[in-house]
Amino acid sequence: MKPLNSLHVEEIKMCWKMLSILVCILCIVSAANAAVPKKAADVPFGKNYVPTWAFDHIKYFNGGSEIQLNLDNYTGTGFQSKRSYLFGHFSMHIKMVGGDSAGTVTAFYLSSQNNEHDEIDFEFLGNRTGQPYILQTNVFSGGKGNKEQRIFLWFDPTKEYHTYSILWNMHQIV
Ligand SMILES: *[C@@H]1O[C@H](CO)[C@@H](O)[C@H](O)[C@H]1NC(C)=O
Ligand SMILES: *[C@@H]1O[C@H](CO)[C@@H](O)[C@H](O)[C@H]1NC(C)=O
Repeated sequence: MKPLNSLHVEEIKMCWKMLSILVCILCIVSAANAAVPKKAADVPFGKNYVPTWAFDHIKYFNGGSEIQLNLDNYTGTGFQSKRSYLFGHFSMHIKMVGGDSAGTVTAFYLSSQNNEHDEIDFEFLGNRTGQPYILQTNVFSGGKGNKEQRIFLWFDPTKEYHTYSILWNMHQIV
């Protein structure tokens, strides 16, 4: 079994720019404590994140330390971090929406908030009922992407919560 952190190793020269965590999700997510490796504290969602669209599709649990993003026939929803970060270890505990998810993308990514586009992506491409999700990763530096990798997961991401992590430091993005 491949450990998650060997999924995508890129050594790139990235402008050292602040990136924000964005989760634009058309699915169900339990998310808390990105940027806190290992020992996660129960911090209310609203302390670190703001919803970005379709606010009524976000449900809060456990005093706001866990949230669910809902997808229906009309819209998904998303949120982003209030702060920007320069380097870090970012983890998200996510369960994909089951059933027919064809045409949807669940994304967990870091993105710069200015003109020169830097981005580190996890994108889960939905599929028909019974067909597997595909995970696509990408890295943009100074507006240049073209580093897509498609990963066929060895587990069903709709059955349980899994932790997806990005490690970003001066030397590498893993
Ligand atoms: C959503 O669309 C599907 C397929 O068109 C339909 O079967 C289902 O009833 C719709 N659900 C709602 C809540 O409108
Ligand atoms: C959907 O699943 C099929 C395999 O059954 C695969 O070939 C296809 O690439 C998948 N599509 C997406 C968008 O993940």
